[in-house]
Amino acid sequence: MFDLSGRTALVTGAGQGVGAGIARLLAAQGAKVAVNDLRAVRAMETVQSIVAVGGRAMTAVFDVADYAAVAENFERMEKQLGPIDILVNNAGIPEGMGIKPFRETEPEAWRPYIDVNLYGVLNCCRAVINGMNARRFGRIVTISSGAGTIGLALGVSPYAAGKGGAISFMRHLALENAGFGVTANTVALGLMNNQNDPTVTAHLAKTIPVGRLGEPEDVGALCVFLASNESSWMTGQTLQINGGNVTT
Ligand SMILES: NC(=O)c1ccc[n+]([C@@H]2O[C@H](COP(=O)([O-])OP(=O)(O)OC[C@H]3O[C@@H](n4cnc5c(N)ncnc54)[C@H](O)[C@@H]3O)[C@@H](O)[C@H]2O)c1
Repeated sequence: MFDLSGRTALVTGAGQGVGAGIARLLAAQGAKVAVNDLRAVRAMETVQSIVAVGGRAMTAVFDVADYAAVAENFERMEKQLGPIDILVNNAGIPEGMGIKPFRETEPEAWRPYIDVNLYGVLNCCRAVINGMNARRFGRIVTISSGAGTIGLALGVSPYAAGKGGAISFMRHLALENAGFGVTANTVALGLMNNQNDPTVTAHLAKTIPVGRLGEPEDVGALCVFLASNESSWMTGQTLQINGGNVTT
């Protein structure tokens, strides 16, 4: 079950955190993985951690928000690893960057959230979709956020606009391509364990029914299923993974 041998995956923003966990788990199930990140050093660290345990991976350093860079790098990745069967759109600008009420923000502060969290998804999907359709197999997973599915008065509305836009886009992408063996699903994350302060971590854990924050492996395991042959009847869905915080 969930054997990804012979498959090629691209995971964006996989130089650290959730994306690195996803890349490692896909590789552990046999996929060859292109590890994308803006930062070359981070991408290399993830590649090394995969290769160290016998997996196959390459770095793919580009900005997902730049369509020309995406298209150019797709050619290079496919030449080296083979056609991309699995795309995980994980790269995102974190919500913490601009926490303030919308009424106090300026337009230039909104742009990165839309450029990376929404255009980044569109760019990578556009680059893979025709090849996936032609080969009659594809798995696209976009990592979004609970903030993209509900309203919050936490000052993260531009982030949520990008994340919510990606959720909506994925539903349409799923239906347009459902007859081609391609699935498209979104994973909306709750709070992940990436706080620097253990007191904050402990405090936040108390707000989560299962009693802990999420780990990259929690998300990676779901991505393995969504990337597999066995998930072929699941498409157009938004899966909430958040330790039991009911958001819909
Ligand atoms: N951490 C959380 O609590 C949380 C909650 C909900 C959703 N998410 C989502 O999960 C995903 C991963 O989050 P994380 O906490 O691991 O983030 P992170 O900031 O730790 O890592 C993201 C990685 O993406 C890279 N990146 C950023 N912009 C990029 C671009 N334009 N092109 C290529 N790479 C780029 C960064 O260099 C970084 O290595 C994001 O989409 C985020 O919005 C995270």
